[in-house]
Amino acid sequence: MVPDHFQVIDFNKKLKSWYLKNHRPLLWRQTTDPYKIWLSEIILQQTRVAHGTPYYEKFLHHYPTVFDLANADERDVLRLWQGLGYYSRARNMHFTARQIVNEYGGRFPETAAKLSKLKGLGNYTAAAIASFAFGEAVAAIDGNVYRVMSRIFGIQSDMLSNEGKKEFAALAKELVSHEDPATYNQAMIEFGAIQCVPVSPDCSVCPFNDICYAYAFKMQNQLPVKSKKGAVKKRFFNYFIIQKGEKLALRERTAKDIWKGLYDFFLVESAKPLVSPEDFAGYKTLNELSQTGIIREIPKEYIHVLSHQKLHVHFWWITVPLEKSPDLPENLAFYSKEEVEELPKPILIDTVLKEVHYL
Ligand code: ADE
Repeated sequence: MVPDHFQVIDFNKKLKSWYLKNHRPLLWRQTTDPYKIWLSEIILQQTRVAHGTPYYEKFLHHYPTVFDLANADERDVLRLWQGLGYYSRARNMHFTARQIVNEYGGRFPETAAKLSKLKGLGNYTAAAIASFAFGEAVAAIDGNVYRVMSRIFGIQSDMLSNEGKKEFAALAKELVSHEDPATYNQAMIEFGAIQCVPVSPDCSVCPFNDICYAYAFKMQNQLPVKSKKGAVKKRFFNYFIIQKGEKLALRERTAKDIWKGLYDFFLVESAKPLVSPEDFAGYKTLNELSQTGIIREIPKEYIHVLSHQKLHVHFWWITVPLEKSPDLPENLAFYSKEEVEELPKPILIDTVLKEVHYL
């Protein structure tokens, strides 16, 4: 609830005038096309504006409409997404594009309530699309907006708890402008992104420093309250890059695990780091391969950090003579260099192939 005497109308006026003076002219702010807004919001969910913008442009170049995305091959969609991470975002978008085309004739549902039923669209994304594209007066609350509200209003509930979310949602509902919800939401997001920043905000130039709870009580560093993420799981990956001529053996990852739909190499996952060939003695295929070919270790441990996992990765390179035709395990198949380039791959794999000057 907004406090007694708090003037929502004044707050909105100040916020809008701050926005009109200070906002960045980002590409997705110049459209009301729900498809483009959806794409930008999905990209920006876990990605910074500077990193995400080229992907936004590239994606729209390849798939200018929801029909183009629906017609695309999932592999090509994932390849375009390569380097953005959180690949389920791309798979869900592709799925939902097909649903919008097949069930809704290519027209997006126009309310947040209906949009949030689609796969991959949470409350935030649904509200962003509904307000930016269709002018619905619903508040879009992303991490930026949680920060702004918690600091100005002194909300100390955990923003990740259910009670906390309800409290923020109730306040946001009172604040959202009914005259211009699109600008209100963009302004709250932008205010959190460039003025009310997580670390060392410059409160001396803030238009709300006369009413801000965190400023009055010097609590900028304590707000918002956010419970710690769960423990990060350590995993040990041992990759075997099997090469024959210029071809490499890859396989699609199909399990419900990280990188589903992307391509990687023959993988042995272990409970602890495995460092010598003897550690792999139990793997029949590897033994056979190492007898047929030459096995070399890439002498480096790669650390790849994901949101809830930390991967410790070693690569081994097995060169098989051209005249031999080893049995390849686990859906592996040989791909030419051009195909390897074209397949969607975890960025770690792309990096290693470039480091060894294969790509
Ligand atoms: N982050 C999430 N949505 C955004 C938007 N519309 N503009 C800028 N940053 C964002």
